[in-house]
Amino acid sequence: MSKPRLLSGMQPTGVLHLGNLEGALRNWVQLQEQYDSYFCIVDWHALTTLAERPEEIPHNVREVAIDYIAAGLDPEKCAIFVQSHVKEHAELHLLFSMITPLGWLERVPTYKEKRENLQIESVSYGLLGYPVLQAADILIYKAAVVPVGEDQLPHLELTREIARRFNYLYGEVFPEPEALLTPAARVPGIDGRKMSKSYNNAIYLSDDAQTVTQKVKQAYTDPLKIRKNDPGHPEGCVVFALHQIYSKDDATTIESECRAGQRGCVDCKMQLAGNLNSALDPLRHRRQELLAKAGQLERILKGGAEKARAVAGETMKEVRKVMHLE
Ligand code: TRP
Repeated sequence: MSKPRLLSGMQPTGVLHLGNLEGALRNWVQLQEQYDSYFCIVDWHALTTLAERPEEIPHNVREVAIDYIAAGLDPEKCAIFVQSHVKEHAELHLLFSMITPLGWLERVPTYKEKRENLQIESVSYGLLGYPVLQAADILIYKAAVVPVGEDQLPHLELTREIARRFNYLYGEVFPEPEALLTPAARVPGIDGRKMSKSYNNAIYLSDDAQTVTQKVKQAYTDPLKIRKNDPGHPEGCVVFALHQIYSKDDATTIESECRAGQRGCVDCKMQLAGNLNSALDPLRHRRQELLAKAGQLERILKGGAEKARAVAGETMKEVRKVMHLE
C-alpha cells in the first residue's frame, strides 16, 4: 500500500447536520479512494465541553459513526474508529505535552475565543492542551494530509511545530502533515445564521423526510416578500442558499423567477424540501442497511480501532525508543 496516509476527525458533541455533510463528509468520501484513510471520532476532545455530562458522549459517538457511514465512508476502504479505543493517543499526548511551550498554546485562536466567550474564570488544563491531543491524533499515524476547514489551520500549524520540535530533540520520527483545505461550503441554518447544533437551526442527516420538510417550511425567507407575486431578494434568503446546493441546475431559473415575482415562497420551499429529501435518501438507505444488521456498527468500530492501533503501536515503539522510555 503506497497511498499517502490521511487522518481527520470530528467531535461527538452532537449528531451531524448538512453543514458537516457539505463542509466535510462529502469531501472525505471522495478522499477515501485516494488515501490510506483514518477517520476518528474524537470523544476525549468532546470532554473539553462535556466534562460534566459525559453520559451524553456514548450516544453521540454512535450517532456520528452512523452518520459517517450513512454519508458514504466505507469501512472496507478506510478505518473508522473512536479515539478512546486507541489509548496510544493519550500516551503520545502526554509526551508531547512535555515539549510544547505554554506560549504556543496560549496563542491558539480557538483557545483564546473559548476563554473569552465562555468567560470561565479558570479554563481547564485539558482545554489548553486540546491542540496537543489533536497533534497526537494526527502524528501517531504519521498522516501526510489532514482534511480540515479553515478554522482548524492554527491547530494544524501547531501540529507541525510539535513535529519539528520532537524531531529536533529526538530524531526524525514525524513527517509534517499538510492541511487539505476543504472548500468552505456556506450552509446556513434555517434561521439564516451558520448551521450549528448549538443554534437549534440545523437539518440533521438523521432527520426523516417529514422533519426536513417541516424545517424547510420554517426557514427564513425574504421578509419583504409577503405575497406570492411580490418580487423577492434571493440574496439573504436561506431557501435560495440551500437551492444553490440542492437544486444546482435550477438555481438560475429559481433566482430570476423569485426576482420577477413569479415564484411564491411556499412552492419554492416545497421544491427545496423535495430536492433535499432526494439528496438525503441515499444516506437514509445506508443508515437502514447498517442498523438492520445487529452488531454491525460495533464490529466496524472494533475493526477500525484494531487497524488504527496497529499503526499507532508501531509509532509509539519508535517514540519510546528515541525518548529512552523502553
Ligand atoms: N479539532 C477538530 C474539530 O473541532 C477535531 C479534531 C480532533 C481533529 N483531532 C483531529 C480534526 C485530528 C482533524 C485531525 O473539528
